[in-house]
Amino acid sequence: MGMVGSVTENTENTAAGSPASHALTPLVDAYVGDPAVRAEWDDRYLDRQQLWSGRPNGALVAEVAGLTPGRVLDVGCGEGADAVWLARRGWDVTALEVSGVALERAAGHARDAGVAVRWVHAALTDAALPPASFDLVSAQYPALLRTPDAAAERALAGAVAVGGVLLLVHHAGMDTRPADESGFDPADYVWPSMVTAVLGDDWVVEVDEQRARVAPDGGAGAHHTDDLVLRARRLR
Ligand SMILES: C[S@@+](CC[C@H](N)C(=O)[O-])C[C@H]1O[C@@H](n2cnc3c(N)ncnc32)[C@H](O)[C@@H]1O
Repeated sequence: MGMVGSVTENTENTAAGSPASHALTPLVDAYVGDPAVRAEWDDRYLDRQQLWSGRPNGALVAEVAGLTPGRVLDVGCGEGADAVWLARRGWDVTALEVSGVALERAAGHARDAGVAVRWVHAALTDAALPPASFDLVSAQYPALLRTPDAAAERALAGAVAVGGVLLLVHHAGMDTRPADESGFDPADYVWPSMVTAVLGDDWVVEVDEQRARVAPDGGAGAHHTDDLVLRARRLR
């Protein structure tokens, strides 16, 4: 896997057989973000050979159906199923993740699929993302830590280009679940209502609802039955 700064790109050829136009020269991995967050997620991925289902998330598939492929940012891309699915459909994909273990797997899947994805090994709020430059920012079940300055919420919104869409999907009920012995406390995380709160007049909320989850078979999240889906468009 090659890296440019914190950006990794698999330089495999596209399905058409030509080198990816945005292929970058492989350099050295340079993770940017809190090492503790990286280590926590690496451990979680190392626990299993494959943590998630390997299939794209149902809410993403449904919400992307009406969009013209453009530049997409997949936040917390995990093992890369969404990123690969999007790249196969013609999206120019940048996929961001704190876990190097997950990214290695994701890059392997992209190689197998013969698609190019720009991998960014960073925490969302530490990544040097070009501002307002993605037609779609997708965050599927992201576990983003909440901070007093709403940094993660602002980073999600700030990455969306004018005319673009922010798609945030969470498991319903997680935000109101009591803190438990595993260390999970909903108060630590960013939930959709917090993202809506930072959007302001430049945005229109197109979807903000709870709905039955179209869940891929298998994977650690298979028991969750309902999604919270927030879809907002940046007007200016
Ligand atoms: C519940 S998993 C969802 C993975 C993937 N989106 C999916 O649906 O299969 C959350 C992911 O977010 C990543 N993550 C956690 N904090 C992050 C951060 N600050 N920036 C980027 N990714 C993060 C984790 O490593 C993990 O892969």
